[in-house]
Amino acid sequence: MNKVAFFSAQEYDKEHFQPVFEGGNLSISYFDTMLDQYTVPLAKGHGVVCAFVNDKLDKQTLEGLQAQGTELVALRCAGFNNVDLEAASRLGVKICRVPAYSPEAVAEHALALILTLNRKTHKAYNRVRENNFSLHHLTGFNLNGKQVGVIGTGMIGQVFSTIMKGLGCRVMAFDPKPNPSLQDKGITYVSLSELFSKSDIISLHCPLNDKTKHLINKEAVSQMKKGVMIINTSRGALIDTQAMIGGLKNGHIGYLGIDVYEQEEGIFFKDLSGMVLQDDIISRLMTFPNVLITGHQGFLTQEALHEIAKITYANIDTFLKGKPLKNEINLEGI
Ligand code: NAI
Repeated sequence: MNKVAFFSAQEYDKEHFQPVFEGGNLSISYFDTMLDQYTVPLAKGHGVVCAFVNDKLDKQTLEGLQAQGTELVALRCAGFNNVDLEAASRLGVKICRVPAYSPEAVAEHALALILTLNRKTHKAYNRVRENNFSLHHLTGFNLNGKQVGVIGTGMIGQVFSTIMKGLGCRVMAFDPKPNPSLQDKGITYVSLSELFSKSDIISLHCPLNDKTKHLINKEAVSQMKKGVMIINTSRGALIDTQAMIGGLKNGHIGYLGIDVYEQEEGIFFKDLSGMVLQDDIISRLMTFPNVLITGHQGFLTQEALHEIAKITYANIDTFLKGKPLKNEINLEGI
């Protein structure tokens, strides 16, 4: 039987992967620890490794995996910024991913962040539970008619743009590859600086790479409207967090909603209640009343988890049968 070493395993992963993998010719060893060069020995004897967003697939990890006989790393996510593709290609370790499973899940989570930040339902919920029915500081704004700027209109950005259009927003976008079907729906493509200067809400849906790292920095913030809402459900390092703190302190940034954080590795996906949080930057962010942080849960819907399990299984099965791996990622392909 072919063995799969499954890193960063959570209960919801097991619930969704087990039924899909059962009956197939694959056995899974679940490890709740993350994959890095130090945990590589756990994968010994496993031809396939299944990894997630914060597993560290750097040169050292990949060399260790290859030396132990791992041939395929099946990512159970869309983003692959945590993989050293050059090292993988040199070592002959194949990498595949789940390019699309439910763009709606992430786009709808971005909307959840917007609505919560705007209408302050998280605060209202807590107040009402304490018999405090005061409306003080709960005033929001209508989304209808507001200008939304979408950075990256791939699968998730496209769904998000359509949702915002449906709410009566005006939507403009920036993407090096404009999407004609969105243009047909009245979404206009503009330069990044125009998007920064005209948007009431800016939502990030582009991948993290050398060009997009700290795309939202101090200079970008200075071009934005006072009171802008910034939403990031893509990858933490798209945003320079220190620049956010500066902008929030001087009131230029009106709202910040993030599902991802530059230093999330080691914090997110863990229950750290009862411990002293050592990260002073996220701790500072959490003190702002107009900041909402969720712990990388944009993908977390029943539908998305089921699709992720199904596609991951199909990727591994295809590889083991020696068929062309359509969801492979390599340097030539990107
Ligand atoms: P996609 O590949 O379909 O779309 C990305 C889009 O970004 C493409 O249209 C591309 O042309 C555009 N792009 C590339 N460079 C750009 C730049 N410099 N500026 C603006 N746009 C640029 O990817 P998809 O599926 O829409 O996912 C987007 C991101 O969402 C992923 O890279 C991933 O990091 C993140 N994600 C987050 C999840 C969560 O749970 N919070 C779950 C799944 C994905």
